[in-house]
Amino acid sequence: MGLPSHEPILQLVRTDADYAAAFKQVFGKTGDQITMTEVTRAIASFERSLLFGDSPFDRYYFGHDPKAMSEAAMRGLDVFLGQGRCVSCHVIEQTQALLTDDRFHNIGIGLNRIQEDVPRLAREFLKAKAAGANVDETVLSDAKASELGRFAVTGEFRDIGAFKTPTLRNVAATAPYMHDGSLRTLQDVVTHYNLGGFSPGDPSVNAFLSGGIRPLNLNSAQIDDLVAFLEALTSPHFAAAPPTPP
Ligand code: HEC
Repeated sequence: MGLPSHEPILQLVRTDADYAAAFKQVFGKTGDQITMTEVTRAIASFERSLLFGDSPFDRYYFGHDPKAMSEAAMRGLDVFLGQGRCVSCHVIEQTQALLTDDRFHNIGIGLNRIQEDVPRLAREFLKAKAAGANVDETVLSDAKASELGRFAVTGEFRDIGAFKTPTLRNVAATAPYMHDGSLRTLQDVVTHYNLGGFSPGDPSVNAFLSGGIRPLNLNSAQIDDLVAFLEALTSPHFAAAPPTPP
């Protein structure tokens, strides 16, 4: 998270009332007794609760249960694989589906807002980086610089405004969407893709848009079906007990 050391984390969990109470309850420790050992164990326990799998989609696609998904979700899967071309980045393989390619793409989020500023921002960023500026601190403290995306790490112009493809598992339970939370619903997300990387009412041009993002010409029934498919990616463990921050 771009923190310079463990100190800010320890400071927070030792002094924030909610964290302090939770650490006392779980580990019986307070103040300086709380170290990275307890923090690490707490994070590991959280990560063990992130169980993905056995969603209606998994039971339909890998378990061959024709009744596991609704008719709408089945039609939505066809759009996902075909006309929508979602699968080219949100990957589904023969035996498993991570629903990400673990790569970086500019799909028209955030950068559209700073378009005319990109040459200046990119130049200033590279200059600051060469002068020894901390990349993490810069992108976390400057909203415009953060929209440069993967470019901040590689310095490659093709990475301007590119962000890592997230998995779509449990996506229906994790609104809002995109790295900046700018799209409120799954319907908004699908509309953004359908328009070819634009949000409604956003006329700006994005010169760095991924070649994979083009208008899809989906009708409103196909959009609803695609949303139904995305909703079929929720794992039962996740739906039953969404991990809530302490
Ligand atoms: C060119 C690659 C690419 C294609 C094609 C693509 N996506 Fe994405 N998708 C991404 C990337 C990259 C992000 C994250 C972008 C960001 O945060 O700025 C993303 C984000 C999302 C999110 C938000 C996830 C979250 O947790 O915030 C959803 C939902 C989504 N995509 C669904 C779809 C659907 C549905 C399609 C097909 C219509 C599709 N994607 C096509 C790369 C792609």
